[in-house]
Amino acid sequence: MPDLQGDDPRYAETLDANFDGVTPENEMKWDTVEPQQGVFNFGPADTIVNYALQHGMSVHGHNLVWNQQLPTWLTSGTWSKDQLEQILQQHIEAEVTHFRGRVEEWDVINEPFNNDGTLQSNIWSNVIGPDYIPLALEWAHDADPTAKLFINDYNIDWAGPKEEAMLALAAQLKSEGVPLDGIGMEEHLSLNWAPSLAQLEQAMQSYAALGLDVEVTEADVDTTGYSGAAAQSQQAEIFGRLATACRAESACIRFSVWGVSDAVSWLGSAAAALPFDQNYQAKPAWAAILAGLDEPQSALQEGSTGEP
Ligand code: XIL
Repeated sequence: MPDLQGDDPRYAETLDANFDGVTPENEMKWDTVEPQQGVFNFGPADTIVNYALQHGMSVHGHNLVWNQQLPTWLTSGTWSKDQLEQILQQHIEAEVTHFRGRVEEWDVINEPFNNDGTLQSNIWSNVIGPDYIPLALEWAHDADPTAKLFINDYNIDWAGPKEEAMLALAAQLKSEGVPLDGIGMEEHLSLNWAPSLAQLEQAMQSYAALGLDVEVTEADVDTTGYSGAAAQSQQAEIFGRLATACRAESACIRFSVWGVSDAVSWLGSAAAALPFDQNYQAKPAWAAILAGLDEPQSALQEGSTGEP
């Protein structure tokens, strides 16, 4: 991965100095991992995982089942339900087994819902049906019974139809004994859109009440359209809100941002969405996160993660 392997040494320096966890941004997705049917390519993810473990960081695996970044052989094929179940089972088994003992948690299911709370129409739901969710969780659990298994989505952090759908799904899976350990709350926010502290706390409490862990995943706060000190302090307040909510809920076990710095953000550096700027200098958002998590201002000790 170019970022870690060295175009800019400040990337690894910032990661090492401030984070204790890593989430690969793209390297564990289908198009990289299984570019041809049955042909697995774990090299790019291995580089990140090995780096993380050598530097004392834990790894959050992302992701096993999504509707995006799928290889063409998969999306252009015509599959029966049985065939696609077998393809999915083999993929999950191969990937989770490969990283067993090194990757301690997985986003097994990524972004399953539409914003209105209906199940998203995609290759998995269309061909296998809604059971692709419990099946995938079972297969991941079979491959590594000690890994924590998550469903990860956005817009599930305020009391609306999507949060309701996630709660209903999680409650049903738990009641059926399906191995689900937690909910990842993607927090791709902006200065124009962010849930309130009360909404975040309420959402986390609702998932925790089902016996689930919660994580803040993929946090970034897009500042497009704003600039200067006011924008930075507004951004810091929103990041601080996320951290405060996580700190207040004992079931919230990890806090992740989606990128090490603005120089590598998927939103582009002009969005200035991350707590470290283009030059890897901490912005006010970083102090707000540390304060919210009740961590020493030098570095995060636990419950954080670094890079995508
Ligand atoms: C994004 C990556 O950051 C980009 O580099 C890639 O081009 C597209 O995917 N929700 C997710 C992540 O769960 O996997 C996405 O990551 C961002 C939205």
